[in-house]
Amino acid sequence: MLSLRDTEKELLARHIGLGSVTADFTVGNGNDTLWLAEHVGEGGLVYGFDIQKQAIENTAALLAERGVSDRCRLICDSHHNLLKYIDGKIDAGVFNLGFLPGGDKGITTMRETTLPAVRDALSVVKPGGCLLVAVYPGHEEGRLEGEMLCSFFEGFDQKQLSAYCFRVLNAPTSPFFLFAEKSKRADI
Ligand SMILES: C[S@@+](CC[C@H](N)C(=O)[O-])C[C@H]1O[C@@H](n2cnc3c(N)ncnc32)[C@H](O)[C@@H]1O
Repeated sequence: MLSLRDTEKELLARHIGLGSVTADFTVGNGNDTLWLAEHVGEGGLVYGFDIQKQAIENTAALLAERGVSDRCRLICDSHHNLLKYIDGKIDAGVFNLGFLPGGDKGITTMRETTLPAVRDALSVVKPGGCLLVAVYPGHEEGRLEGEMLCSFFEGFDQKQLSAYCFRVLNAPTSPFFLFAEKSKRADI
């Protein structure tokens, strides 16, 4: 059986190397932030956002334990404010929507902030770069976020970006992900 998590990493790895600039827009417990930090190396940079102080603290502890804090900039603010913090362009960005597993299910990503955040994130992805968004349609807000984002990505001219949806067709409520690659000549 294919693992969508492994597929996510394979696709991201095509865009990330030593010295890359990346962003994890939902750090949670820091697993994706750590993966990015290990792949960008000492000369790279990972911006990490979360609205929960506890998530930022847990991630900071994980990064310190693994010796990669030097290349990470953790920000306790909503990802829809990302333009206040990201200076320049990024090679790759990741959103892992929903709520923190084992945490407060009431603190979840919401369409009103997810859409501006994804739109602004796309604007800081450099031509040839990518954005990956993991969606959890097993809860109502996640299902609606998924529908909203599919419509959003469907609206782009393929000269600007190519957008893909990876989902298990016979498990419609299981997590899926969207992957957008900006064209090398994109001006969005
Ligand atoms: C599914 S978890 C992320 C899991 C994480 N990628 C990991 O590897 O552990 C979603 C996270 O999004 C955060 N979140 C919710 N709304 C947010 C927002 N507007 N801006 C930034 N983070 C947000 C939640 O606090 C939660 O920690």
